[in-house]
Amino acid sequence: MKPNSKIRIVDITRDSDYEGYLYRCLAPIPFKKHRKRQEYLGNAIARGFHKKLVIFNDEVVGQIEYAPAEASGYPIIGDNTVVMNCIWVLRRAKGHGLGKRLLADMTEGEKNAVGFAAIALENHWSPWMKKEQMERLGFKAIDSVEVTHKTKHQGECFRIYLMWLPTMKNVSMPTWDKPRLLRGVDFCLAHPLYHPEKLKLNEILEKC
Ligand SMILES: CC(C)(COP(=O)(O)OP(=O)(O)OC[C@H]1O[C@@H](n2cnc3c(N)ncnc32)[C@H](O)[C@@H]1OP(=O)(O)O)[C@@H](O)C(=O)NCCC(=O)NCCS
Repeated sequence: MKPNSKIRIVDITRDSDYEGYLYRCLAPIPFKKHRKRQEYLGNAIARGFHKKLVIFNDEVVGQIEYAPAEASGYPIIGDNTVVMNCIWVLRRAKGHGLGKRLLADMTEGEKNAVGFAAIALENHWSPWMKKEQMERLGFKAIDSVEVTHKTKHQGECFRIYLMWLPTMKNVSMPTWDKPRLLRGVDFCLAHPLYHPEKLKLNEILEKC
């Protein structure tokens, strides 16, 4: 892959041509307007949510999704803080600077943000949201909680990190609502902390 050729980043937030990607991300999940996702988008788009795709030779190979903290998919709290819900570059396109380009596109588009927050995982059984990958993008861990899932891989502990990438000096770091985090997330079906409604649980995670 030659670095700058035939690569474009497209904001699909309000683009009906890419509506499927607004709902299903890069995971091979059939397109469906999932109710929880629809509710999330209905609320978040008007409050500054964006989803962008990186397209190489007409093939979607990466994505980034972010929103101001109060409209994000996580219980992260911070003034003028933008939360990256997700970033993903497909394995076959990794290592060509696309992750950093998506990140730069987000930071350049959010000039009033004092910084960018995200979450990351360590020792989770899935290959997703790994802390070292978020660190390679420039994020640093500022807090963490060790948890176990109530129904999957029971008894296995993994750690969730609050990650931070400030873009201004001397700014307050974000915080998070840990009890709410234990409920999991419902903005994305493919997320490793996804809370399916059918579980009929208040919290899907508990502290280790
Ligand atoms: C994190 C991720 C987005 C990075 O994308 P990428 O396009 O491979 O990243 P880049 O090529 O822009 O590289 C970013 C930095 O990491 C470094 N890097 C990339 N791969 C590396 C590797 N295997 N080992 C060490 N460093 C590496 C690069 O050198 C670069 O650092 P630099 O700018 O200082 O040189 C990608 O690995 C990914 O999608 N991971 C999965 C994320 C995930 O779980 N998403 C949620 C799905 S539910």
